[in-house]
Amino acid sequence: MEKFDLIVLGGGPAGYNAAERASEGGLKTVVIEKRALGGVCLNEGCIPSKTLIHSGKLYEHALHSDVYGVTAENVKIDQKKVVARKNKVVSTLVGGIGMAMKKHGVKVVNAFGTILGKTEEGFEVEANGEKYVAKYMLLCAGSEAVVPPIPGLREGVESGFVLTNREILDLEAIPEKLVVIGGGVIGMEMASYYSMVGSKVTVVEMLDHIGGPTDIEIAKILEKNYAKAGIEFKLGCKVTKVGDGKVCFEENGKANEVAADKVLCAIGRRAVTTGYGLENLNVYMERGAVVTDDQMRTNVPGLFAAGDINGKVMLAHTAYREGEVAVNTMLGKKDIMRYNAIPSVIYTNPEVAAVGLTEAQAKAAGYDVEVAKVSMMFSGRYLAENEGGDGICKLIVDKKYNRLLGVHLIGSYASEIIYGAALMVETEMQIQNIKEIVFPHPTVCEVIREALYDIK
Ligand code: NAI
Repeated sequence: MEKFDLIVLGGGPAGYNAAERASEGGLKTVVIEKRALGGVCLNEGCIPSKTLIHSGKLYEHALHSDVYGVTAENVKIDQKKVVARKNKVVSTLVGGIGMAMKKHGVKVVNAFGTILGKTEEGFEVEANGEKYVAKYMLLCAGSEAVVPPIPGLREGVESGFVLTNREILDLEAIPEKLVVIGGGVIGMEMASYYSMVGSKVTVVEMLDHIGGPTDIEIAKILEKNYAKAGIEFKLGCKVTKVGDGKVCFEENGKANEVAADKVLCAIGRRAVTTGYGLENLNVYMERGAVVTDDQMRTNVPGLFAAGDINGKVMLAHTAYREGEVAVNTMLGKKDIMRYNAIPSVIYTNPEVAAVGLTEAQAKAAGYDVEVAKVSMMFSGRYLAENEGGDGICKLIVDKKYNRLLGVHLIGSYASEIIYGAALMVETEMQIQNIKEIVFPHPTVCEVIREALYDIK
């Protein structure tokens, strides 16, 4: 039996960051991780998908840059090479986390951890035949892809016909026909990549729009861009059966189907709360996720939960910060998790990025809302780099307190610009103060300033 101050169960963004901060703060810490450090984000999510998408964009640029005076011949995409590079990027980052753990004196146990329970000694976890005991425990077991009981879907996953976010990143051949079930974040990012590299992509989405909670106007622009690029959208369609090289669905009350070489199932994720002894702690859960307060405490004293497992905002950067808040709370430092200004990005091409409330959410919440909207064409740099682009910047303003409630962007660099907007929302800056900021020129972020002039 080895004694620690903190056991971190799961080494993804919530867990590895928390472990480093805890060790810095003087807590003797062990991380128990069954797969590779870095979790879904590094191994089968954020990083590998961005690596693929970058290759896709380069390929597309090479093919379609004649409007900019550039033509290339014999342009090819080598999917095996793309995947190999992705693997190299992932292993470099995973190795980096391992080194950071060593540097911070965090013990890493690379094994499946089973929670045995809580005794007077603390939380007890068994891994690799060893027992680990600690005063505090941080649950960071993450989430997994939802595979609903649609006939043929599970069998499809087993046979390799249906893929989740994990397998889609390792395809060594580009499928001729890819059907994506779910037009949310994962669905649209992967539809984007495979469409750029030549697959005929069909997105079957239950709702009448893609992009989930994305501002509806922006979701429509994204849809228009991808429809133009050749993606077929089957919106408002319910999948009824998968198999025999096709996806069957209901469209306007009638049966329809689309042929597929591969199917991506991207209809959401759920917290991982079973199979590792969590039931031994009597932790309070709601809708399948561990309930936490704004200091990441659960109902069990000394037990914290950060990241996808609490089901609040399933984003790596949220997890990262939640892990920090949990550790600060253990260390007796006052820290609170705030969720009102968490930026979100869909790494499509064009990129979509947002922070704060959408127009619909702000109105539903009862704010006196003013909307300012400008075309990204107001930015000289955007115009120079985006022939025919239709990006926009949309600001949601609280008229009563003269501050930003939300910022929504579609267009190049949106993912990098949104950080500045998050600062404005988080710090509740007054519109007047934002107007006094000098933006660099020429940049695409200048559209935010342009949009500010439209506020009455
Ligand atoms: P999601 O919740 O973003 O989208 C799922 C979509 O599937 C929704 O539009 C939903 O209406 C649709 N759907 C549900 N059931 C369906 C059915 N039976 N038939 C057709 N459509 C159906 O979930 P997704 O894309 O799987 O992503 C999971 C999580 O990963 C999200 O929380 C997301 O935020 C996160 N993520 C974040 C990324 C980023 O920050 N760039 C990248 C990838 C994932």
